[in-house]
Amino acid sequence: MSLETRSLAPTTEGLDEAARLLAAGALVAFPSETVYGLGGDARQDAACAAIYAAKGRPQFNPLIVHLADVAAVARYAVMDDRARALAAAFWPGPLTLVLPRREEAGLSPLVSAGMATVAVRVPAHPLTRRLLQTFGGPLAGPSANPSGRVSPTRAEHVLEGLAGRIAAVLDGGPCAVGVESTIVGLAEGAPQLLRPGGVPVEAIEAVLGQPLVAGGSAEAPTAPGQLSSHYAPGAAVRLGVTRPDAGEIWVGFGPDCAGADLSLSETGDLTEAAARLFHMLREADRLAGQGGRIAFAPVPDTGLGRAINDRLGRAAAPRP
Ligand code: TXA
Ligand code: MG
Repeated sequence: MSLETRSLAPTTEGLDEAARLLAAGALVAFPSETVYGLGGDARQDAACAAIYAAKGRPQFNPLIVHLADVAAVARYAVMDDRARALAAAFWPGPLTLVLPRREEAGLSPLVSAGMATVAVRVPAHPLTRRLLQTFGGPLAGPSANPSGRVSPTRAEHVLEGLAGRIAAVLDGGPCAVGVESTIVGLAEGAPQLLRPGGVPVEAIEAVLGQPLVAGGSAEAPTAPGQLSSHYAPGAAVRLGVTRPDAGEIWVGFGPDCAGADLSLSETGDLTEAAARLFHMLREADRLAGQGGRIAFAPVPDTGLGRAINDRLGRAAAPRP
């Protein structure tokens, strides 16, 4: 599946076309002051699943949501006094805050990898700001590189890694900061440094009036111990099930699951399965009820299937 990746000029026409593609669910890489982001509509499950597919991420490492201003951030995330102080000091700019997410605000659960938090940032690059205004919605955007490669700071770098896998790249020239945003976790307890980046730690500590504590690695925030998930089902979960036991809610994958209660994808499409995964965990849990049991059909461990199986493995792991 290869498409011709277009290069869009940083003009009104280019921005209009980028916004149109994003609204249609396509992926558009965009410049920011830090690095290029791989943009998709953060409200659309399919767009978020396509981001993971394009990056080839082996697990659902949650995505940063880019927003036009603080008011927009407050619509999707809960901002306390500390978040407001940091926002006033450093936004727009290279700071990302991990905050409790507003569950009913319409973000895809995939941007948060099923967790109860969301990473948000108001970027400073004038072109990113114009794109956000033109698009008018929340823009999911991890760095625009294939998983495990360095972040791109020029449109050419984006094309080297992702040509053929995304609809377009908005060419804004080289990025000024060149390193990713600093990520601060404010979702629970003391403020955590999840990733050093474009805003110095000392400047953040000065605004907060307290030191940042070392956070769990932002690269692996879904380690089971750190997982504070609305989506970790209450029901017991069994994997790789081709014949469910009586009383189990069976979630199928592919055409060979006749009689399944639910399906990740009737046709066996991994991107569709990823887009549905967190909804299906919830729905299966609801159908199973208190003390119930859920059985998932096997999902091939290739491409996005690895991320799906990683997350299913966590859902099936024994809980404390
Ligand atoms: O400068 C940047 O931050 C760039 C530009 C495009 O904004 N973006 C970027 O995204 O570097 P990415 O996906 O490469 O890195 C985002 C990091 C990941 O390590 C991810 O684990 C972490 O943010 N993250 C996202 N949501 C999170 C959450 N809810 N809790 C903890 N960590 C989170
Ligand atoms: Mg990255």
